[in-house]
Amino acid sequence: MNAPVLLKIDDKIATLTLNRPDKLNALNYQTVDLLLAMLDELEVDSRVHVLIVTGAGDRAFSAGADIREFSESVRSGRAAAVRDFVRRGQQMTARMEAYRKPIIAAVNGYAFGGGCEITEAVPLAIASERALFAKPEIRLGMPPTFGGTQRLPRLSGRKRALQLLLTGERFEPQRALQEGLINRVVPHAELMPAARELASRIACHSPLAVAAILAAVTRGLNMAIGEGLQVESEQFASLVPSRDLCEGLDAWMQRREPVFCGH
Ligand code: COA
Repeated sequence: MNAPVLLKIDDKIATLTLNRPDKLNALNYQTVDLLLAMLDELEVDSRVHVLIVTGAGDRAFSAGADIREFSESVRSGRAAAVRDFVRRGQQMTARMEAYRKPIIAAVNGYAFGGGCEITEAVPLAIASERALFAKPEIRLGMPPTFGGTQRLPRLSGRKRALQLLLTGERFEPQRALQEGLINRVVPHAELMPAARELASRIACHSPLAVAAILAAVTRGLNMAIGEGLQVESEQFASLVPSRDLCEGLDAWMQRREPVFCGH
């Protein structure tokens, strides 16, 4: 129970819980490394179709990168700061963004800095009414480093993102909804049931089709439309020989529910 990330798997859903509640689930290097290792394992675990990421305790999803730890890297100089802090954090959010299975952030409290950047990177997010967001890096005299200068402007537009990035102001879940950062706001007690319900509605579909849609949308968003359409076409083509596509088409024609096998 002392691991910095906890894992529970049931009903095709893996729940990853950031577990440093006394530090508001601040993302130290050990937490990021464990999270990355778990993501590697879960991506090839056929029991798992959808992941939920949340925070332990009743205060925070994550208050961001562990400031005490990364300030040591900063003091060690440019190379160490970039290698140990920036690259590691960027690797984490890029992995979540491009992950072959959907990741749902269940934002249960503070989502500051890196906590906000995880929410930006994952494909789906639900926030409790108690969540509170911020891009507070400017107050530390630095820009965000886990993708926060890149993904938020793509989600909310340049000027809206820059206001949040340049002021460091805190914002409520309703504002996060308007910014396109989350899908839904729910009462605190309904957060995990709502995240699981969304996960279940995805987990019943073919994991191959789910992965193809995730890849086409995420890769296509960062391309010109023509290239994005090529990615869409390639994703579809990769499914043509699959049993799941035949099953989906047959089930529709036979007016029955499809049974997908993931092959
Ligand atoms: N890194 C390291 N430790 C952190 C942390 C972070 N990002 N955020 C919180 N903590 C630790 C605190 O040091 C404290 O631990 P301690 O009691 O051992 O000192 C504990 O978590 C509780 O935080 P505290 O600051 O006492 O809670 P609060 O209710 O007064 O304030 C916040 C909550 C979120 C406003 C405040 O913790 C904060 O500003 N955190 C940093 C947010 C940030 O700048 N993130 C971006 C980093 S790049």
